[in-house]
Amino acid sequence: MTGLNNRHQSLIQKAQNSVNEVKDKIAQNHWRLQYHISAPAYWINDPNGFCFYKGEYHLFFQYHPYSPEWGPMHWGHVKSNDLVTWEHLPIALAPSEDYDQDGCFSGSAIEKGGKLYLMYTGNVWTGRNHDTDLKQVQCIAFSEDGIHFEKIKQNPVISSAPNGDIHPYHFRDPKVWKHQENYYCVLGSRTKDHIGQILLYRSKDLINWEFINVAAKGDGNLGYMWECPDIFHLNGNDVLMMSPQGLSPQGYLYHNLHQSGYMLGELDFENGMLHHGEFQLLDYGFDVYAPQTMIDPHGRRIMIAWMAMWESSMPEQEYKWAGAMTLPRELTIKNGQIISTPVKELEKLRQNPLSYQNVKVKEEIEIPHVKGKSIELKLIIVPKEATTFGLKLRVSEKEETVLSYNKETEMFVFNRNKSGAGPGGVREVPVQLLDGQLHLHIFLDSSSLEVFINHGEKVMTGRIYPSESAQGIRFFGDKEIDLIHLSKWDLKINE
Ligand code: FRU
Repeated sequence: MTGLNNRHQSLIQKAQNSVNEVKDKIAQNHWRLQYHISAPAYWINDPNGFCFYKGEYHLFFQYHPYSPEWGPMHWGHVKSNDLVTWEHLPIALAPSEDYDQDGCFSGSAIEKGGKLYLMYTGNVWTGRNHDTDLKQVQCIAFSEDGIHFEKIKQNPVISSAPNGDIHPYHFRDPKVWKHQENYYCVLGSRTKDHIGQILLYRSKDLINWEFINVAAKGDGNLGYMWECPDIFHLNGNDVLMMSPQGLSPQGYLYHNLHQSGYMLGELDFENGMLHHGEFQLLDYGFDVYAPQTMIDPHGRRIMIAWMAMWESSMPEQEYKWAGAMTLPRELTIKNGQIISTPVKELEKLRQNPLSYQNVKVKEEIEIPHVKGKSIELKLIIVPKEATTFGLKLRVSEKEETVLSYNKETEMFVFNRNKSGAGPGGVREVPVQLLDGQLHLHIFLDSSSLEVFINHGEKVMTGRIYPSESAQGIRFFGDKEIDLIHLSKWDLKINE
């Protein structure tokens, strides 16, 4: 091994020790998620390098292994053979070289000739102001065993942003894929006067990269920077997914600090331009950012996102951890929009099944044994004459998280103003009943809630921080409603 690699390995070891020292204590915190990915200790953000390598799913993530706040980024690493049970592996990347000394920022993974390649952004601060004083370059590391990664000698493989109306420094988050005999990658960028855009590159070997074009660029209210782009083909469309920063709120839209969404279109691989439709959100809740997708051996397009939001308060920081990933969601396209559903493998988590048919709900009721903090619920509601109806989760005397629907406004609402600790707020999304029915598929974990509405047509995700004892569930309607079907499972990983 060369001197450089020794340095990288010893920085990884140091980071690993920092995590090992505190992780047992952190495991006791009652907000620790039971079946979602989070780090054993300290801060995580974006999912990175989501891929399938030598028979297993791998997921890397932005990781600061020294504190529950964002800091010099490493890449954490987990793997799974079923997308349900994840094994923590050693930290994969640490900032160790001149070109990545202040962080190994987001990126992606691809298999080539039996090796696993990571493509990531090397970040260097050139002054105190992190908005203006930075240098970002694109780098490669590889592994023979999928666990230990070595940075290549040719780094950085893209050492500066292209000429043109392209900001020279905000230039990051490569997502690499293979199309016919070439590799392509997209990068997050902005123009010199701060309009978000995506850059497309091509390579024969992952080392020599040629800039093709600005694949897409914002117009109107689409923000000052597009982070974490991903391009993939799905059900006859080329999809650009990205995380734009700086959109102003419009009606029920864009109330989070930053957004994640997509545009459907057609990518011209020759001139590098994406002809696309409107920007649409991926999730209408509070806490989804920097989604990344992969295609698995079954041909499924699977997405995982960071289940948090920049600058939100995160009460788990007090217990030395911060951030988590959403459940893996399978994406398909129907009627010009992405449908997201939890991957089928999650059914393995189900324990203690309970099911009810045709329950009449008057005012507000509890249903025997329907309660808990890490559970799955599937329900079909027929509201009949009711206008407003729904359910409350994680209920105690003082706390509740409310999911409701208003038939007049046709809006579905997620209200976390009384959820417990942490940020409150209300998010809304237009939903139409399906033949007079509302279908909900809900995943509740110790400090999170994901709601898949009408078979994944709309999704809402949010972190909530209730007291441990708040485990009640109540159903309500302003007039009698029929709960024509209700299933409930406790969810737990079988160790
Ligand atoms: C997105 C992001 C990326 C960057 C990373 C740094 O959340 O800002 O653009 O690579 O986080 O941690």
